Amino acid sequence: MAIYTLPELPYDYAALEPVISPEIIELHHDKHHAAYVKGANDTLEQLAEAREKDAWGAVNGLEKNLAFHLSGHILHSIYWHNMDSPKDGGGGEPLAADGVGDLADAIAESFGSFARFKAQLTKAAATTQGSGWGVLAYEPVSGRLIVEQVYDHQGNVGQGSVPILVFDAWEHAFYLQYKNQKVDFIEAMWQVVNWQDVSRRYADAQGRTPLIGG
Ligand SMILES: [Fe+2]
Repeated sequence: MAIYTLPELPYDYAALEPVISPEIIELHHDKHHAAYVKGANDTLEQLAEAREKDAWGAVNGLEKNLAFHLSGHILHSIYWHNMDSPKDGGGGEPLAADGVGDLADAIAESFGSFARFKAQLTKAAATTQGSGWGVLAYEPVSGRLIVEQVYDHQGNVGQGSVPILVFDAWEHAFYLQYKNQKVDFIEAMWQVVNWQDVSRRYADAQGRTPLIGG
């Protein structure tokens, strides 16, 4: 039985127009995200078979595939909910008046200001080499927010940090609409950020106490 399943989109394919076309959303969710779900399930099955046969010749590749597909599934699952149509409240910046004051304060404390945070995440996402993501994450040891520039889906990440806002910078996320203009796509992404969702993820992440050092 499959361990992981493809989640439904929280909106229809056209909900994020004009920032992201329906064609991109459909392919991205139904084909790309689905492939990561299948990849994670297949890899777990292959690892179970390796344990059964005590056959470890492919263990390095299998562990790499598990990290890649599982992280791809998790990041895309967050990505869909991180976005909302501008007409339904997406975009802008987090404000206390909208009930997301804790998140706004944490961003200001961790980065100096919202503008400086926005500049860092935009730059981190737009300058990914090859395929990757720009990620706002809660780092539980310091209790601060950090920006990570993720390679593929799983590289260049601090252990234990919790992603709360993710910008997919893979070409499949934008190429059909933005061609080679990755910077334009990342800048447009700010118009569809669902700050209510980011705020909920921030509150949830704060409840995770790190157990380090015994
Ligand atoms: Fe993607």
